[in-house]
Amino acid sequence: MATLVLAGTLEGHSPALVLYDGARIHGIELERLSRLKHNLTLERHQQQTRDLRARAMRGGRTAPDFALLDQAVRYVLENAGATWADVTHVAGVVDSDAVLRRLCPDRLGRPRSAGAIGHHEAHAASAYYPSGFDEAAVLVVDAFGDMAPEGARAVETVSIWRGHGSELQCLEMRYSPLSALDGSSPTGHLSPGLFYADLTVQIGFMVREAGKVMGLSPFGHPSKRDALRPFVSFDHDSGDVRFSPGYLDAMRALVGSGSEAERADCAGAGQEVLERVLFHYARRAESLTGCRRLVMAGGCALNSVANGKLLRSGLFDEIFVQPAAGDNGLALGMALRTHPPEPGVFSMGASCFGRIYSDEAVREAIAQTDFASTHFPEEEALCTEVARRLAGGEILGWFQGAAEFGPRALGHRSVLCDPRASTMKDILNARVKFREAFRPFAPAVLESAAEDYFSLDRPSPYMLFVAPVKTPALLPATTHVDGSARVQTVCPERTPRFAALLATVGAQTGVPVLLNTSMNVMGQPIIETPVQALEMLGACALDGLVLGDHLVTKTS
Ligand SMILES: [Fe+2]
Repeated sequence: MATLVLAGTLEGHSPALVLYDGARIHGIELERLSRLKHNLTLERHQQQTRDLRARAMRGGRTAPDFALLDQAVRYVLENAGATWADVTHVAGVVDSDAVLRRLCPDRLGRPRSAGAIGHHEAHAASAYYPSGFDEAAVLVVDAFGDMAPEGARAVETVSIWRGHGSELQCLEMRYSPLSALDGSSPTGHLSPGLFYADLTVQIGFMVREAGKVMGLSPFGHPSKRDALRPFVSFDHDSGDVRFSPGYLDAMRALVGSGSEAERADCAGAGQEVLERVLFHYARRAESLTGCRRLVMAGGCALNSVANGKLLRSGLFDEIFVQPAAGDNGLALGMALRTHPPEPGVFSMGASCFGRIYSDEAVREAIAQTDFASTHFPEEEALCTEVARRLAGGEILGWFQGAAEFGPRALGHRSVLCDPRASTMKDILNARVKFREAFRPFAPAVLESAAEDYFSLDRPSPYMLFVAPVKTPALLPATTHVDGSARVQTVCPERTPRFAALLATVGAQTGVPVLLNTSMNVMGQPIIETPVQALEMLGACALDGLVLGDHLVTKTS
């Protein structure tokens, strides 16, 4: 019988479920089904922001939604053309007994193995096995993972692993005592992710809006850049990084009256600390493993500014960051850990594990609307028309194939426009995205031309490395205030139709670069279905929507 692993996490934030057959993954983040970002109502998100430390003390557990889990199970089984009877292994995270029981009930009909895999172990597996490397140092950094074994009142915060072939070995697991997480300990805590979460909340964002801090940080005044450094200490013998409790007051002092300039000062100072911490642990990972390749996961690995600096530092020859590096990636890691692939067997590819909607489904969805649509059976003609419209200043939705697994739209559920127009960022915000003005938009560039525009000498397919822009005047809508950009490189092997579009854009304009942002209504998760995409077209000021081979507009 062929192996078929069903793995998921339902408790905690960013729940997800995947089905893995030894080579291929089918997966869905539960937020895409519930249509609630991070699967949280705004009220619960606000509550978790207020109760951040109480959540840490509880290990981040939240009440499971079993109906949603069942929906997700149906989704992945249908996509794989499989049934419950085909499932051979089930995996969940440690302490998720309720989820395991639900995933592995008697209804399976025959005994199955139900594996419990640790939080950091799953993060490590999620990063190493899809990396394509046959040997690598693995670094996991987040806010808090599982409780320490044998009743110790402490939680996982940082771990270093060594991947070799299909083996994955933990070399160091760092725990922070619960007594330190609640802020009462005079010695502070050991969690980089909690430090950054505190920073996010003190600046005035909700706890899962750390990306906004990163976007705001370059606006901070250079004189304030070192303001939080006294509150972090490095023990190079033990490897510990300790955050002293005084940093909360120091953050509040930096935020002051709450002006944007003051909040940016705080963001810049906190970002500086996180970068130092990540460099410390990356060096430690290198010295413990002797590996010249690094893979990373855990929420802190989504800090693309730090990742870009690490890449340019030369500390490692190659770095792979798994695109679903947050807790949504735990399901992927659990599946791969349950049935570890040989190196090179499993590839992250375009990170698109969702359902592919048929042309028939697309046509049916369009037929239910009053919109005009044009069918382009030839890809070349479609790309020519879309490129022409984008160069003319239009903002278009771009829906192709399966949805991305992870927080970034990478050319399957994207909103696209021309990054060469200096006004485009404001227009996009006013009409479609409604984001804070300080937040940058990302460029997608044809991989073969990336070095013409960015100081980036290797692929960045998942938008996880920020790089200096060589031609900022040419790309004003995607160049941040410090002259950088969170680059996505696009190649035909990984994302063929998006690459074809970028090549056509390059042929028409001379610049094979597009602004690429996620297709979602403000405050909601990324679009999953054609119907949702058409609803978004109707609800906001998109100029049109490309649905597979169809260009849909509000008027003919
Ligand atoms: Fe985590």
